[in-house]
Amino acid sequence: MLDEDELISLEIDERCIRILLALSKIYKARGFVEIKSAHISGVSYDNIGDEGLEWLRSIRGKVRVETTLNPAGMDLERWKEMGISEKFYRKQMEIIEVFKKMGAKISLTCTPYYLRPPKFGDHLAWAESSAIVYSNSVIGARTNRESGISALASAISGVTPYYGLHLKDLRAPTVTVKASGDPSAVGYRAGIELPGEIPYFVFDKRVPLDELKLLSASIAATGNVAMFHVEGLTPEYKDFDVPKEVLEIEGKIEKDCYADLIAIGCPHCSKDELETILKLLDGRKVKRELWIFTSRRVAEEAERIVVELEKLGAKIFRDTCMVVSPATEKFRCVMVNSGKALEYLPKKRKVDVSFGNLKKCIEVALS
Ligand code: F3S
Repeated sequence: MLDEDELISLEIDERCIRILLALSKIYKARGFVEIKSAHISGVSYDNIGDEGLEWLRSIRGKVRVETTLNPAGMDLERWKEMGISEKFYRKQMEIIEVFKKMGAKISLTCTPYYLRPPKFGDHLAWAESSAIVYSNSVIGARTNRESGISALASAISGVTPYYGLHLKDLRAPTVTVKASGDPSAVGYRAGIELPGEIPYFVFDKRVPLDELKLLSASIAATGNVAMFHVEGLTPEYKDFDVPKEVLEIEGKIEKDCYADLIAIGCPHCSKDELETILKLLDGRKVKRELWIFTSRRVAEEAERIVVELEKLGAKIFRDTCMVVSPATEKFRCVMVNSGKALEYLPKKRKVDVSFGNLKKCIEVALS
């Protein structure tokens, strides 16, 4: 743990110190805790533009801890196929170069926990709201909701202000939620109804980890939630009293339009999800555009599955996603199984959205 004076004495870019001091003051932090890793958002040129690029260029120094990056605005190799312009490509690569020089891993994924999973109790400084919720809730690591800028300041200093979800007491659930139906839709509704809370979910069935990942993304997108517990499942659910206030949520979203793109992989697909999609396709070729987003690392590990999926007409894009890439703008209606994509696609890409679970999405892709 560092105190203020020790932070100030670090020989790093002064702006990083100022950012961390400001956060510490606002949240009345108890010092600065050493982190195991940082995860930086705001990597897509579409998100940060020229101003963001200039700011990044001006930051001096290298990262001191393992630092991963959120998706970029394009697949670094298949950008032309996505319809990305030459100018966008060049700018995006400039951003990647800056991060490379800082020593960050060019992971370009919102699921950094698939690359090197944090351990229970690890302190982190992660931006990317879905990964924050997943790491706090499902892994039991500890991070506040960092911005791309504060995560970068922590990557360079190796510490983060010690407050909020870094403290065990503040990880207690605040409301009990009896949940049924689609977990991604449960997260979407829970975020709207319980913004900023720490729900204690009691599901009527066992929820697989990949679906908790979707829940993490949707609850963060609609409600700025940073953590939840699931009875019988998540690592800290037994550590606190169960909240007396009880709410019932049925995970159901009715949102329909004729999809000219089916986009899966928000958050980025795991190897298991890729395998499930292949099983659901069952050797049949898709009749509509099916885009699947995953990290370069997972795609490498699942090479055989990726080849099979592409033979059936699906396109597997790495390094990017349907929300942070402008590539999805050319479609009229995009079908998703993700509450987060449902929330952001109309705002960011100005497209209509249709919602269904993974099985439904694949049925539509085949129709
Ligand atoms: Fe990841 Fe993009 Fe969704 S960054 S969580 S796939 S919006």
